[in-house]
Amino acid sequence: MSAFTLTRQLPADATARALRADVVNGLTAEPKWLPPKWFYDARGSELFEEITQLPEYYPTRAERAILAAEAGAIAAVTGARVLVELGSGSSEKTRLLIEALRAGGTLTGYVPVDVSESALEQAGRALIADYPGLAVHALIADFQAGLTLPPADGPRLVAFLGGTIGNLLPSERAEFLRRVHDALAPGDALLLGTDLVKDERTLVAAYDDAAGVTAAFNKNVLAVLDRELGADLDPDAFEHVARWDAKHEWIEMRLRATAAFTAKIPALDLKVEFARGEEIRTEISAKFRESGVRDELLAAGLEQRHWWTDAEHRFALSLAVRP
Ligand code: SAH
Ligand code: AVI
Repeated sequence: MSAFTLTRQLPADATARALRADVVNGLTAEPKWLPPKWFYDARGSELFEEITQLPEYYPTRAERAILAAEAGAIAAVTGARVLVELGSGSSEKTRLLIEALRAGGTLTGYVPVDVSESALEQAGRALIADYPGLAVHALIADFQAGLTLPPADGPRLVAFLGGTIGNLLPSERAEFLRRVHDALAPGDALLLGTDLVKDERTLVAAYDDAAGVTAAFNKNVLAVLDRELGADLDPDAFEHVARWDAKHEWIEMRLRATAAFTAKIPALDLKVEFARGEEIRTEISAKFRESGVRDELLAAGLEQRHWWTDAEHRFALSLAVRP
């Protein structure tokens, strides 16, 4: 018998409070910004899945190729009984890991952690149908708000795939990795996906696709603010911007106001002035080099034991352990 449970780690009103605080902080700042986690309502999660199918968006295919090649090795090295995945989304690529760990005879439970309830619900139900005997305990939680890993009678593997670590600022990454370290027991492992630095054209195309799906994903954050806070941020009043920042080695997604206007956000009793051409930074997506990943892991007390890339060196998976 397979079992699926879905637990909300933070009460719904904590999420609502966090959104309000982020919007007040971000939209009254100079320059304006919003944290990327608010992209992912049900529509945002669907749009992200569409992005993963786009010809320009190579990271998902590249990471899947690495997992297809190395899942057996990851299973053998970690012998994980419990697989915890942070920002799991559809859990599609994770199936390769689940299958390898089941083939190795160790895996008993999978714990996907995400802010998107719809993604967790859909992924969890599909997984228990496909993997008899697997216990799936999904957690609606913010992976930046503290991590409590479930106890396990054997090694645990924490997976953080997709390059989502690149959506955190460097200081947030350091704090996040330190928390992962603290949550792991000695011998537990972290499997970390990182997108790699490459030519600007390839990078910008991946975040500004011809079909406009990434633009719709970017603008979806406005729909979330309109629905949750009664804001009147018209998606048509903004244009999608994707820019390579060579100094920081990250892509920035922004929303640029096409005309001057004042937005009203009634739930916050807030009016926000936009000048023509003013931008809101909605996401960074950092790209990495091997030495940088190794150093960031080490600074958090984690030892990188493996570094695998796809054949074209577009994306990397690191396997690190808490010694
Ligand atoms: N790991 C999947 C999905 C990546 S999309 C893949 O590789 O394809 C990023 C996922 O992280 C989304 O499902 C989003 O809902 C989730 N997410 C973003 N910020 C989060 C946060 N702070 N806490 C928990 N989940 C988050
Ligand atoms: C989830 N994350 C790794 C994606 C990325 O590539 O930074 C989110 C995304 N933003 C635009 N396209 C995809």
